[in-house]
Amino acid sequence: MSAVLAARDHVFSPRRQDFVIRPVPGAAGGLGAEVVGLDLSRPLSRDDFERLQSAHWEHHVLVFRDQRITPSEQVAFSRLWGPLQIHVLRQFQLPGHPEILQVSNLRDEQGQPLGLGDAGQLWHSDLSYKEKPSLGSLLHAQELPEEGGDTLFADQHAAYEALPGTLKQRLAGLQAEHSYLLHYEALRSKSPWRPALTQAQIAEVRPAVHPVVHTHPGNGRKALFVSEHFTSRILGLSEGESRTLLQQLFAHSVQPQFVYRHQWQPHDMVFWDNRAVLHLAAGTPSHLRRKLYRTTVEGARPVA
Ligand code: SIN
Repeated sequence: MSAVLAARDHVFSPRRQDFVIRPVPGAAGGLGAEVVGLDLSRPLSRDDFERLQSAHWEHHVLVFRDQRITPSEQVAFSRLWGPLQIHVLRQFQLPGHPEILQVSNLRDEQGQPLGLGDAGQLWHSDLSYKEKPSLGSLLHAQELPEEGGDTLFADQHAAYEALPGTLKQRLAGLQAEHSYLLHYEALRSKSPWRPALTQAQIAEVRPAVHPVVHTHPGNGRKALFVSEHFTSRILGLSEGESRTLLQQLFAHSVQPQFVYRHQWQPHDMVFWDNRAVLHLAAGTPSHLRRKLYRTTVEGARPVA
């Protein structure tokens, strides 16, 4: 379902809010914009929604500053963009809010992890291993460390456009497999956060096949759609050829000229477009606390 369809039945407010959308300081190539003055706890007008949608298609990462919103308000705003996807690691849901995945290194009184503490350690697009990967994710800061904890975003339209013509031709028509399980056991062996998956969880994350280059349904631009975390192989190539080509694309797609580094401010909510960017959690010193709430919006099946 597109965002326009998701929002179709929503009762919008007749009142616009007074806010600005401007490039984030230090943004390269139009990646990243901050939204200042908008209060997401107040009802949104259709015009305001459409302004945000255009900015999302253009800048791919929207940083909503100073959002004092509740989990229910985050869920309500997220639903304007499409149905919400429930993460397979149910134990990290925020109690009472199954749509919210806690991304956190905190533990409860029994010492059990409260959230997915090692989320985003490899470059990825959220839920690309689903038949319908994510349109976008919204991450709302609850507790931030005094140092570290940044999130990096890499523009996959710009990465595609910078490829040599011969490589663009080679990629046209290629399909790749995306698997949640590709690095799961390796991450689990290094981390206290990842539980052993049950058979039901494994069945829920069967691999999916998507075009290596897809066309964004909103802005019509092509983008690379492979990632180190989830893309396991390119169909129709030998194992060696597939590995070599994927390594080349992984290295190309996250070069510094395509990257915006988000340094979190209190109450930021960041809404990124999983069809246009890859992202990476840069890491938090283990003695510092970090907690964010993530909602994940379902998108359409990618098309070339
Ligand atoms: C994620 O990959 O969704 C989490 C990113 C982060 O914690 O910075």
